[in-house]
Amino acid sequence: MAKVTLLPADVSAQVSAGELLIEAGEKAGVDMEAGCFNCSCGTCVVEVVRGMEFLEEPTPEELDVLDQWNKDPEKFRLTCCVRVKEGEIVIRQPQH
Ligand code: FES
Repeated sequence: MAKVTLLPADVSAQVSAGELLIEAGEKAGVDMEAGCFNCSCGTCVVEVVRGMEFLEEPTPEELDVLDQWNKDPEKFRLTCCVRVKEGEIVIRQPQH
């Protein structure tokens, strides 16, 4: 299991290993920005504040999209693409 905390709402959800990061937001009752759900539009980008080591490595597709948006893959991930492993993860949604 992993615990995912979403900022700025500051709410958390428990998710099983192998679930998508976007599902953590849905479980926590937070609206998650998303468009394609297919790792190609970049709408679902979030900043990983803590716990990058508890997320699976980015796929080449995810790295491509992050690059298009000039987002450093060491700090930002696409929630529809990335599966969680375990541990404590803190992410921050962009402000609109
Ligand atoms: S919703 Fe399009 S990349 Fe995640």
